[in-house]
Amino acid sequence: MLAMNFRGPKRVRASQKPMPEIKHPEDAIVRVTRSCICGSDLHLYNGNVPDTRVGMTFGHEFTGVVEEIGSEVTKVKVGDHVLVPFNIACGRCIFCKQGLFGNCHESNPEATAVGGIYGYSHTAGGHNGGQAEYARVPYANVGPTVIPPGMDPDDAVMLTDVVPTGYQAAEMAGIQPGDTVVVFGAGPVGIMAARCSWLFGAGRVIVIDHVDYRLEFVRNYANCEAYNFRELEDPVVFIKKTTDWIGADVCIDAVGAEAAGNALQTITGRKTLLQAGSATALHWAINAVRKGGVVSIVGVYGPTDNLVPIGNVVNKGITIRANQSSVKRLLPRLIDHVQSGVLNPKALITHRLPLEEVADGYRIFSAKLDNCIKPVLIPPSAGM
Ligand SMILES: NC(=O)c1ccc[n+]([C@@H]2O[C@H](COP(=O)([O-])OP(=O)(O)OC[C@H]3O[C@@H](n4cnc5c(N)ncnc54)[C@H](O)[C@@H]3O)[C@@H](O)[C@H]2O)c1
Ligand SMILES: [Zn+2]
Ligand SMILES: [Zn+2]
Repeated sequence: MLAMNFRGPKRVRASQKPMPEIKHPEDAIVRVTRSCICGSDLHLYNGNVPDTRVGMTFGHEFTGVVEEIGSEVTKVKVGDHVLVPFNIACGRCIFCKQGLFGNCHESNPEATAVGGIYGYSHTAGGHNGGQAEYARVPYANVGPTVIPPGMDPDDAVMLTDVVPTGYQAAEMAGIQPGDTVVVFGAGPVGIMAARCSWLFGAGRVIVIDHVDYRLEFVRNYANCEAYNFRELEDPVVFIKKTTDWIGADVCIDAVGAEAAGNALQTITGRKTLLQAGSATALHWAINAVRKGGVVSIVGVYGPTDNLVPIGNVVNKGITIRANQSSVKRLLPRLIDHVQSGVLNPKALITHRLPLEEVADGYRIFSAKLDNCIKPVLIPPSAGM
């Protein structure tokens, strides 16, 4: 089958790989119909995630048709068109039982922090991903969810990660009616977090990035204010000033480990890897939130350590909440929001490429060329 193949930092290609096989009675094999490239894939692509092995297939946001099921799969059947949450979850460990599907204790034998994630290095379990014609889906009674009749597959693929992650960023922030919410990052996740902040009653939503076309997009899509941090003398001072020197009630980090904007962070976090990525947006979030406010982190950081201003967290009495999104927990609510038109996630898809052009997809998305917000890859065998 054709699959994305990681050859080393900034080198990916589409090549032939063996077909995935059922290895466990609860596995399914799906024929992929859509597969997105995510900001999380860029951390792998840029060589910032430990134990990203040459030969791995990335892709944790995909839909597909069930082609084959193991003997213990009862919740999906051959021929079902499913969306597959990015977290691989067993559904029965103590964490899954609490709805912490991103922290499954069984699906990632390499670690006790994050659970398994498709196509996300051996630090997230070493499972191959969905940027391929076919993918193996473990615990198929838990994750894959039949796409409701009439739902556009482009909306469905956005429900595997971007919609639940943006929504959970706002949910974890504990937004109170009238709150001022600042979202760092106008990528797909930040855009969705800004949009969802209104659903929780925000009174003012501000997005910060340095890519003008994304700021323009989020201004319209999420009906919010949006500012280029390169045009602000200091984003923290700007946020304080615009909130009567109080600070934002809530700051959301939707940037993660590859933040721009601070040379020292960039050198230590991205160039020399002395810390697990540059935490510039997180510093800004902690310093711009008001005393007693909430910082909600969905931006991804590596498994090792970052320097963060923990003294400010303590002295300001900040609550920090963070996690990988728990996609399965949120799906029922978010499917409703898409079906009723409250959320229109497919509007974020700007690029549609055949899987054969996966290298171009990564290049365009990572360099933010051609006004790219969200690229989707279509395998040759997708059939739709
Ligand atoms: N927790 C989860 O479940 C989860 C799920 C999906 C993605 N993520 C993470 O969320 C983050 C965003 O994902 P995405 O797909 O939107 O990625 P993206 O790379 O498309 O977007 C990131 C945006 O941040 C901007 N940026 C860079 N430095 C900044 C700074 N200092 N301040 C403000 N903005 C800055 C970039 O210009 C870019 O537009 C990534 O770290 C990704 O790994 C987390
Ligand atoms: Zn993703
Ligand atoms: Zn589990």
